[in-house]
Amino acid sequence: MAKVLVTGGAGFIGSHLVDSLIKEGYQVVIVDDLSHGKKENLNSQAKFYEMDIRDSRLEEVFKEEKPDYVDHHAAQMDIRKSVADPQFDAEVNIIGTLNILENCRKHGVKKVIFASSGGAIYGEGNDNLPFDEKSLVKPLSPYGVGKCTGEYYLYFYRETYGLDFTALRYGNVYGPRQDPEGEAGVIAIFIRAMLQNESISIFGDGEQLRDYVYVEDVVRANVLSLNKGEGGDVINIGTARGVSVNELFKNLAEITGFPGKPVYHPSRAGEILKTYLNFSRAKTVLGWRPEMTLEEGLKKTGDYFKKNL
Ligand SMILES: NC(=O)c1ccc[n+]([C@@H]2O[C@H](COP(=O)([O-])OP(=O)(O)OC[C@H]3O[C@@H](n4cnc5c(N)ncnc54)[C@H](O)[C@@H]3O)[C@@H](O)[C@H]2O)c1
Repeated sequence: MAKVLVTGGAGFIGSHLVDSLIKEGYQVVIVDDLSHGKKENLNSQAKFYEMDIRDSRLEEVFKEEKPDYVDHHAAQMDIRKSVADPQFDAEVNIIGTLNILENCRKHGVKKVIFASSGGAIYGEGNDNLPFDEKSLVKPLSPYGVGKCTGEYYLYFYRETYGLDFTALRYGNVYGPRQDPEGEAGVIAIFIRAMLQNESISIFGDGEQLRDYVYVEDVVRANVLSLNKGEGGDVINIGTARGVSVNELFKNLAEITGFPGKPVYHPSRAGEILKTYLNFSRAKTVLGWRPEMTLEEGLKKTGDYFKKNL
């Protein structure tokens, strides 16, 4: 069975992906520096290298393991940190990605799957919601710039060296194992605070719309991309439904039994007001559509945190 190297495999999405690949019978190798991922997320049937994706020793891993596929999820993924320290963001997300791609080129990798972001690259000022893949790319953060740059490098490596790729532009991914202490991941943040009876902050009027897509659906898109979407495809992975923060608050308060009201704060500069993603291309190319309803996904996530906080 083919071997897949998953970068970021100790993180939220990467660890679910590893579990699924192992279930499907793939051999899996993980590269993660544990800067944000957790040891307890590591699947014991995967081989683990604790290593920074920028490390020159990454070449030894490629030489030793000879992966058929690379699924690249390791990233600095805090948007506000990318604004505060764009240089660090570029070192990990751009230079780190280049280190991966150079090794793919040198060591005969067949295909790269890249975790891109629909939420961070389409940006404000596009009026064709839900965004499809032809929508203008207008990133409003260094993080978004890094994801676009990653896609351009993928294109270059495919055109020049024949390294195939699929870039998956995710909406806002949520589910078990998401970091409830992080900056991103409003669902995990709300659930933790509600279960611990802390106050809940909403920035702006709470009517900003996002596309929340369940982690298992995202993982399925990755597994399908190993054998479909060839020829350098860029594909949105979302639900085409915009959900407001106020709606999330209401649903999650019910699930957790939280009696309080949210505290509203001034909106954050640069925050995108509306983004959700058309998934027609995923349907055509991958045979993918989101299967989890928001209501069921929120309930599953709530149940996980009730047991695991
Ligand atoms: N969560 C979302 O809503 C979302 C949306 C769009 C795209 N993405 C992308 O999906 C990927 C995974 O995101 P996640 O939510 O699982 O985040 P995460 O932080 O849980 O996972 C990222 C993993 O990468 C590792 N990592 C970070 N820097 C590294 C480095 N220099 N070298 C090696 N490993 C490193 C971390 O330790 C962590 O385990 C990221 O590329 C992110 O940009 C996530």
